Amino acid sequence: MNKLVFIALFFFLFQPFAFAQYEPNYDESKVPEFKLPDPLKTFSGKKIRNAKQWEKKRRPELLNFFTQNVYGEVPGELNISSVEVVEQSNNALNGKASRKQVELTFKKDNRSLSYTILMYLPINVEKAPVFLGYNFYGNHTIANDVNILISEAWSRDNPSFGIIHNQLTEQSRGVRTNRWALDEIIGAGYGLAVIYYGEIDPDKDDMSDGVHPFFYVDDQQQPADNEWGSISAWTWGLSRAMDYFQKDADVDASKVIVFGHSRLGKTSLWAGATDTRFAGVISNDSGCGGAALSKRRFGETVWRINRSFPHWFCTNFKNYSKNEEALPVDQHQLIALIAPRPVYVASAEEDLWADPKGEFLSAYYASPVYKLYGKEGIVQKEMPGVNRPIQNTVAYHIRTGKHDVTDFDWEQYIKWADKFVK
Ligand code: GCU
Repeated sequence: MNKLVFIALFFFLFQPFAFAQYEPNYDESKVPEFKLPDPLKTFSGKKIRNAKQWEKKRRPELLNFFTQNVYGEVPGELNISSVEVVEQSNNALNGKASRKQVELTFKKDNRSLSYTILMYLPINVEKAPVFLGYNFYGNHTIANDVNILISEAWSRDNPSFGIIHNQLTEQSRGVRTNRWALDEIIGAGYGLAVIYYGEIDPDKDDMSDGVHPFFYVDDQQQPADNEWGSISAWTWGLSRAMDYFQKDADVDASKVIVFGHSRLGKTSLWAGATDTRFAGVISNDSGCGGAALSKRRFGETVWRINRSFPHWFCTNFKNYSKNEEALPVDQHQLIALIAPRPVYVASAEEDLWADPKGEFLSAYYASPVYKLYGKEGIVQKEMPGVNRPIQNTVAYHIRTGKHDVTDFDWEQYIKWADKFVK
């Protein structure tokens, strides 16, 4: 047999075995044994006994590790060049809210980037606390409101929403109202601010678009190994929105809660960890690289996420593909970086890919850091029953159903925000 044919045949025959090894695990009894790094012990083994030591020693070294090896560093400063209110009305949602569409523009050398924040604010509140979150398919998908401008930024195709040739269209107006409980949010006295994430960085493995190239020198094509992937870039966008809120008299910038679902839930956690101006953080079904513990290797793994979405994390994170045991951190420490500010981790029962138990355990193992501040986290190690939220400064629920954002989720977030943020 010709050698090449033999090699091809060999790989063809053994391929199922090769892949079987990396099939996602959904069996609790096959979760590998692992030791979780202690949030209250420094890398050099020193015990952290109080909030002061945490803030002086441990928090900075953890934040630095996640920055350099997981999400990537933002290579420089890029501030808002101009703000333009492109549309506004005091009569939105049947007179219950005002609406404002604000375009932020950033300029450097001969580059320019703009994105639009769509805001609904309750009419009877002078300075509103606000939920801030990214959406997946454009601001016009979140409400059935003809006045919402349609973004021209690149989008992943989704023919069922009328998105083809990577362009958002009229056809998808209002298709995601189910994910944003807008009336309830306004009715409870909060504002909602949303941004289309593709305006900051299109969600594809291409580092020549979005905000990344603003910092390239000479003919650089991609960020350095320790520099930002897309999650960090989206996080940068949230922080610049926060810069804007601090100047908007209609918003209470000391009460902005950053929210995100799935990849955008990973983003909201990282935003909460890196920018202490966010008063609260919500991670909805954020899974691997979000709230879920990586070392459990349940559902999506580090290898799998780096392979499917090579642009989300920094290049250094690839060192931990199929090598989670080498990670000197895990995601409970990402949550701990948010302390003492309120954080809510939510899972869905059918969303095994995101590892609900791993998400719960992260919230649980982050709690000792909250305790240093006299705040109550998750005290019981057993997962609560389905649809039975635990709401402390650290909150958690697992609801029935699939990977999604539902009215049930929002009801809990509002109740919790009333108590811990408002
Ligand atoms: C994929 C990915 C997840 C991510 C999800 C989403 O399923 O594997 O990590 O959270 O997409 O963002 O919808």
